Amino acid sequence: MTDTLSVRDNRTGRDYELAITDGTIRAADLKQIAVDDDGGLATYDPGFVNTASCRSSVTFIDGDKGVLEYRGYPIEQLAEHSTFLEVSYLLLNGELPTADELAAWTHQVTHHTFLHENIKQFIQGFRYDAHPMGMLMASVSALSTFYPDASDISDSANRQLQITRLIAKMPTLGAFAYRNGLGKPYVYPDNGLSYVENFLAMLFKMSEPRYESDPRIVKALDVLLILHADHEQNCSTNAVRSVGSSQVDPYSAVAAGIGALYGPLHGGANEAVLKMLRRIGSVENIPGFIEGVKAGKEKLMGFGHRVYKNFDPRATIIKKACDDVFEVTGVNPLLAIAKELEKIALEDEYFVKRKLYPNVDFYSGLIYEALEFPPEMFTVLFAIGRTPGWLAQWSELVQDKEQKIARPKQIYTGTRTRDFVPMDQR
Ligand code: SDX
Repeated sequence: MTDTLSVRDNRTGRDYELAITDGTIRAADLKQIAVDDDGGLATYDPGFVNTASCRSSVTFIDGDKGVLEYRGYPIEQLAEHSTFLEVSYLLLNGELPTADELAAWTHQVTHHTFLHENIKQFIQGFRYDAHPMGMLMASVSALSTFYPDASDISDSANRQLQITRLIAKMPTLGAFAYRNGLGKPYVYPDNGLSYVENFLAMLFKMSEPRYESDPRIVKALDVLLILHADHEQNCSTNAVRSVGSSQVDPYSAVAAGIGALYGPLHGGANEAVLKMLRRIGSVENIPGFIEGVKAGKEKLMGFGHRVYKNFDPRATIIKKACDDVFEVTGVNPLLAIAKELEKIALEDEYFVKRKLYPNVDFYSGLIYEALEFPPEMFTVLFAIGRTPGWLAQWSELVQDKEQKIARPKQIYTGTRTRDFVPMDQR
């Protein structure tokens, strides 16, 4: 037995041998399977449901077994023993840092949290009710104009500097967007605080000299950021890689990722889950709502996943984190609806047949709401968490000699050549 695929083209009777590598065949190898000079075969895969776009060593997922590993470390162990900045270092560098490396990395990130003052005016240009994700996407894109040197993506030290700036500045941008919506003064970073403490202070500090966070809340938020840090070739990472393949600067590539994450089928699902739970309103309304979903009227937000077909390991961890947070904030009344909805869905043939289980977004919104974030900010929190993952994947793309500018083919279904029709003949 050899790692090859024997293919017979019944249109010509010709046989072909295609190499099988890492469980794939190269789409380019199909081009040789041609009739006359028709250019040969290509693959057609809407949404890339069964297409590998790259080789990556950042994150491994086994959807059937509910396995998620960052650089080989199981997410359960990282959530329990690590911190978001340590996990960011791991994703970006491939190994856990030594104490000195972590101290240097933390120092670097801490001292890049400030934004150019003009960014404040830029953010103040938005209406009070502008969605923070739209503001985040725009302001991250705007950062590329403040750091024109970022376009030199071939220089590794320069890439490292821009990566550090982005990871450091995302919480500041998110907090400024949040404060803009409330008409509250912007709170500048406090370099005496940890990454998460500083983020909470920039969000919620008022006239007190220094904002004091509850350590249990800080820990829960740090775990949530770890859980969102990367997830192999999801929609937003694919956007970062696709835009990054044109060799644009990392701010513009990450802005594209933010745009993809904004969508309700992706990162926007956590906001949609909370609005769905509020709309259901009580446990008694669940059966009627489920019937509507089964009738195809809407989706059960926070359920289903392209890869996980049994359970999302992150949802399991977040469900546990709920208890820690609710110990501080009091139980979110929507939790009872969420738990009953999960119970019913897991027993209902419609969902079981389609392998629909709670994903990372199903419970995270309950924690964010308990931490007094408005639903519009939930996906901003997801974006802050996902930034090191996007950048680790972008950095891998830039150094991957096999990668080219992303430019897929199409199946043309339109009208072919025809002559222009003058107005008086239309
Ligand atoms: C994230 O890719 C990642 O890794 C993403 C993510 C990450 O960390 O980056 O994990 C984060 O985005 C999690 C997913 C958050 N999105 C939601 O919770 C939105 C609701 N879920 C769906 O829209 C859906 O499940 C997706 C988008 C998550 C996955 O969609 P797929 O893999 O393209 O599956 P599909 O749409 O082809 O669905 C298969 C069937 C369909 O039914 P039929 O047409 O066969 O009858 O399942 C149905 C779908 O209608 N279905 C749902 C459903 N999800 C799928 N029906 C009701 N409710 C749902 N939530």
